Amino acid sequence: MVRLRNDPHERGVDTGSVLPPITHDNPAVAQGDLLIRVDQLDERGVREVRTERHGVLAVGVTPGGEPFAVGNVCRHQYARMGRGSVTASGCLECPWHRARYDVTNGRMVEGPKGRIFGFRPYSAMFRLFGSRFGLRTFPVRLQDGAIHLVN
Ligand code: FES
Repeated sequence: MVRLRNDPHERGVDTGSVLPPITHDNPAVAQGDLLIRVDQLDERGVREVRTERHGVLAVGVTPGGEPFAVGNVCRHQYARMGRGSVTASGCLECPWHRARYDVTNGRMVEGPKGRIFGFRPYSAMFRLFGSRFGLRTFPVRLQDGAIHLVN
């Protein structure tokens, strides 16, 4: 038995083969403007949601109870933001190198981290880029325990 650890948060994937398993994305599916119920979110506070109009979004709630929906692709190396997590301060953190985004405007507020990508000039360069060309944001509201697109 091989246990791969390439899944965010090291949830791992069990496989009976030495070959990597074929894995598929498993985003939640929006029902029209109803993106997701809050009780469908786990402790990460964010999830990928497939929508008809905007493709897959990262949808979640901050610890302060504010819902958000933002683009799903990190500006650094394209990790899926819906697989990240919401921090105690309400930022959306990338699952790969922990860049952080302000979910109210989509701007990167902290650059990538780690031994390689946390190299200060490199990280600062990406923070500058990500603050100018941040994640797209989508207006949402909380209603009856669910997050809805507004417009
Ligand atoms: S891919 Fe998001 S910080 Fe590197």
